[in-house]
Amino acid sequence: MSAAPPPTHDELVATARRMRDRAYAPYSGFRVGCALLTADGRMFTGANVENAAYSPTICAERVALPAAVVAGARDLAVLAVAGDGDGPTTPCGVCRQVLFEFAPDLLVLAAGDTGPAASYVLGRDLLPDGFGPARLATGT
Ligand code: THU
Repeated sequence: MSAAPPPTHDELVATARRMRDRAYAPYSGFRVGCALLTADGRMFTGANVENAAYSPTICAERVALPAAVVAGARDLAVLAVAGDGDGPTTPCGVCRQVLFEFAPDLLVLAAGDTGPAASYVLGRDLLPDGFGPARLATGT
């Protein structure tokens, strides 16, 4: 029996949109969901989890990424992220940095409520010249 094919980009975006229902966002009222596909075809999901003290708020991406890492999946291929509203929600600066650690070449599909997602390559489009492990190793 062969393994199920990995989700398509459209399916990842649909999952990210659905995951907004799991968000806990009583303070901002802005729900974000995401779906992270690993190179070996596994999918990890997340939604933002806010906090009364505000700063402990965890973005959707920083729910999904550690789940992938602790499951042994560090090779990340595609992230779909969807926020409330019409415009695409792109990952915040902190999430860009956290994702860059593992996947400078990550394909990011940024979506809103409807329509096609905007596509980016993390290290090329969203965090050019980012600081990652290679810089520590070389000291440059
Ligand atoms: N948020 C995310 O979950 N991911 C992002 O990359 C952008 C921002 C959340 C954090 C907060 O709960 C809400 O959106 C408003 O900033």
